[in-house]
Amino acid sequence: MYVPEKVLTNDDLEKMVETSDEWITSRTGIRERHVSDGELTSDLAAKAGLAALKEAGLEPGDIDMIIVATNTPDTVFPGVGPKVQCLIGAERAGAFDLQAGCTGCVYALTVAASGIGSGLWKNVLVIGAEVLSRLLDWNDRNTCVLFGDGAGAAVLTAGKGDNSILAAELHAEGEKSDFIIFPGGLVEKPASHETVDAGEHFIKMKGNDVFKYVNTVLPPFLKRLCSDADMEPEDVDWWIFHQANIRIIEGVMKRMKLDSAKSIVNLDRYGNTSAASVFLVLHEGLQKGTLKKGDSVVITSFGAGMTYGAIMLRI
Ligand code: ACO
Repeated sequence: MYVPEKVLTNDDLEKMVETSDEWITSRTGIRERHVSDGELTSDLAAKAGLAALKEAGLEPGDIDMIIVATNTPDTVFPGVGPKVQCLIGAERAGAFDLQAGCTGCVYALTVAASGIGSGLWKNVLVIGAEVLSRLLDWNDRNTCVLFGDGAGAAVLTAGKGDNSILAAELHAEGEKSDFIIFPGGLVEKPASHETVDAGEHFIKMKGNDVFKYVNTVLPPFLKRLCSDADMEPEDVDWWIFHQANIRIIEGVMKRMKLDSAKSIVNLDRYGNTSAASVFLVLHEGLQKGTLKKGDSVVITSFGAGMTYGAIMLRI
């Protein structure tokens, strides 16, 4: 993983908008987040990607495909993927971006696993990277306190080892597309003085609708995923949720009658880093030795679209 150096605490935000550390901590669990001081999404992605390659003992030239899950590409096109391909010197690799809200991480892992399973690719570098701070209205307390910048990456490799994908399922409910939206500046509303005056170049979110939706759809969905893998939810060793809100994570775990100690959380230090968040948790879980070889792990996310999905791995 890689996060920019600059840290913005809840106390800092108290000086910017009408909010309080007490409100942010009790409603979200977030205490601080990292924000880019000029680094682009591709810079963060390349740093996380190189770190993952080092960890995997591979060279950039070993990679067949690079998939970057992001909602905050440097430019609409070209994508972040080709920039990362160039920055890390992965001369043989194809590269593309995948946009599926915060669920992009799970979609990207599933696409990578499918490409490997079909025999198309051997080594795939999957990256989740975001610089959300550039798309936030720093006067809107409903959104600016929630998000952070960061990137995480994983290498998926063809092999016959014990570690593998046990189940994966992806969903979309497009009729709820107004729940989280970046409305201005593209085909529907090309950038104009009007779109800028209306603040349509900022993220808009119906936070409470997202909150209720996720708490409703995730528990039955995750139970079904477990049954597809011939497992009971309580048999899963670790749950890695998209790091949006501690109340969502604890609420879903409670509804599934699971011990919340089985979910690894780091949103207190990074906030919601969208498509990067689960990679940040995965990295810290492995580095601290919380996640051990042979453990079963469910990685699940939800976000703009609305999309949601999950992948179960044995690591
Ligand atoms: N500080 C103080 N007060 C605030 C703040 C703030 N930062 N933000 C909102 N409030 C106020 C609201 O104005 C409202 O005041 P009112 O009652 O006077 O109108 C009150 O707090 C309650 O607002 P709610 O929105 O009902 O608060 P809620 O408990 O739902 O928490 C939150 C809001 C944290 C956004 C929560 O709904 C949430 O986490 N939703 C999920 C968001 C999410 O998971 N997004 C993931 C996807 S992101 C992506 O895909 C890019």
